[in-house]
Amino acid sequence: MKTRITLGLLALMTALVLAACSDDKEPTANDDGANTGEESHEDMDMNEEGSDSMDGMEGHMSHDEVVSLNDSTGENELKIPPVLEDENTKEEEIAYTVRAQKGETEIFDGTKTKTLGYNGAFLGPMLRLNEGDTVKIKLINELDEDTTFHWHGLEVPGDADGGPHALLKPGEENMIEFKVTQEASTLWFHPHPEGSTAEQVYNGLAGLVYIEDDNSKSLDLPNEYGQNDIPLIFQDKIFDDKYQLNYDAAMNEDGTIGETLLINGTLNPMLSVKKEKIRLRLLNGSNARNFTFKLNTGDSFEQVATDGGFLNEPVTLKEITLTPSERAEIIIDFSKLDTDDDLALINDEDGSILLPFQVSEQGREDSNIPEKMNDFTITEEEMNLPVTKNVEFFGMMDKVTINGKQFDKDRIDFTQELGVTEVWEFYNKPDDMGGMIHPVHIHGTQFKILSRNGEEPPENEQGWKDSFSLEPDETVKVAVQFKNKGVYMLHCHILEHEDNGMMSQIKVE
Ligand code: C2O
Ligand code: CU
Ligand code: CU
Repeated sequence: MKTRITLGLLALMTALVLAACSDDKEPTANDDGANTGEESHEDMDMNEEGSDSMDGMEGHMSHDEVVSLNDSTGENELKIPPVLEDENTKEEEIAYTVRAQKGETEIFDGTKTKTLGYNGAFLGPMLRLNEGDTVKIKLINELDEDTTFHWHGLEVPGDADGGPHALLKPGEENMIEFKVTQEASTLWFHPHPEGSTAEQVYNGLAGLVYIEDDNSKSLDLPNEYGQNDIPLIFQDKIFDDKYQLNYDAAMNEDGTIGETLLINGTLNPMLSVKKEKIRLRLLNGSNARNFTFKLNTGDSFEQVATDGGFLNEPVTLKEITLTPSERAEIIIDFSKLDTDDDLALINDEDGSILLPFQVSEQGREDSNIPEKMNDFTITEEEMNLPVTKNVEFFGMMDKVTINGKQFDKDRIDFTQELGVTEVWEFYNKPDDMGGMIHPVHIHGTQFKILSRNGEEPPENEQGWKDSFSLEPDETVKVAVQFKNKGVYMLHCHILEHEDNGMMSQIKVE
C-alpha cells in the first residue's frame, strides 16, 4: 500500500477536521470525491513513510485531501437565473431557443471574467416544462468550438439527448423535439462533447430545467420562483491572478476542485428570506467536489424531492450529501429557527460557509408540507429480478475505466430492450490507495436504487434518481427502464473522469 500521509500528519489533520466540525461524523477520505491537484501520484510514490500505519484503515485518508472552500462573506445578494420565455402560444406546446455563447461576466467587482453561457454570458436560464407538453428546442452553437446540448435527467429519445454524438460545430444549429413523459422534478442541461465536457461546464455552460405536473401544482409547497422557491447551483472554481478561469492551469485529472464557491454564478452569496418555509433546489453543478449541506445551527430540514421527483413523504435530515450532478429539494422552515443566530448553509465536508441567510419579516404562516407527496414504489417483482448487467468502476486520473474499458464512441457496451426493467449491479473496485467515490449517472432514464451493499437504501434515496454516489468497495443495485430508443451514455459525473473515458454506451432498441 502506498501513501504519502504520515501518521503525524494524519493525526494533525484528524484533529483539525474534528475541531472544524463539531458533529459526530467521522472524517474519512471516503467523504471526499476527488483530489486537490496540489500533489500528484508521483509525490505519493516518493513518500512511503507511514504506510504501515495505514494498514487496517481500509484505505481511509489515503487519497489527497480536498482543498477547502473559502467562506462566503455574504456581501452579494444571490443571483437567480432568468426564466426562459416560451415562444409558443399554443397549449401543451413549448418552444425554446437555446444558444451556447461566449461572454464576459463581472464576477469580481470591477473586473471582467471570460465565461461561457446559454442565452447570456454565464450559466443559463431556467426552462420550464410541463408533463404532457410537446417541446421543441432550437439549439444554436455560437461558440468557437464544438459542443452538444445534453438534458440531464430528461427521458427523451437518444437523438434528442445531446450526448457526444450530437456535436454541433461553431455556427451550426439543430432542432430537437420530444414529449415530456415524466413527473415534476428539477433537472439540468449542460454540454457533452467528447473530451471537453469538463472545460465547457467549468467555464459556465449549465442551466436548469424544471418539470411541473398536476401533482406539483396541487401540493402546497413553496413555488414562487426566486421568492420562496430558490434554485441553488453550487460550483467551485479557481480564478487566476487576473480573475480569469484558466481551465488548463486548474485542471486535475481526478476532478478539478477550486477554493472559490459560486452559487448561481454569485461570488460571496447571501440569501434574503422571510420567516416562512423556503424551498431550496440544490444542484451540485461542480466538476468534482462533493457537498454535504447542513445548517450551521445543526437544525433539521425536510427533503421533499430527489433527482427525478418528489419523495413519497418528506424526510427529516440534518445534512445531505450530493455528489456532482445530483439534486435534492429541501425545505427550511425559517419561522421555526432562532433567527438571532447567524444562519447559514454550510458544507460539512470542510466546514465552509456556503450561503448566509438574512432573515427579515414574518412571511406566510399557513403553509404546510404535505404528508403524502408521491406514490413511488419498488415492487416485489423488481426486488426479485436477477442482475442482468454488472458494471465495475475502477481507477483514477486518466486510467479510469468501466468494466476495464475506456470510452469508444464506435462501441456499444450494453443493450437493453425498450420498456423492459433490468437490474444493474454497480461495483466500485478500490485501488491500492483505497479508491474514490464515483458519482454514477445514466442518461435518458430515471431509475430506482434497490439496495446499497445489500441493504435498503436510505429513505431519501427511495425516489427517482438519475445519479448516485458509488463509494469505494460499494455495490449498488439499480432497477433501470428506458421509455425511448437510442444510444445513451453511462458515466462517472466527475467530469474529468468522464472526459478521460469513464463512460460507456447503452443502446436501447
Ligand atoms: Cu450530466 Cu452525461 O451528464
Ligand atoms: Cu446526463
Ligand atoms: Cu469517477
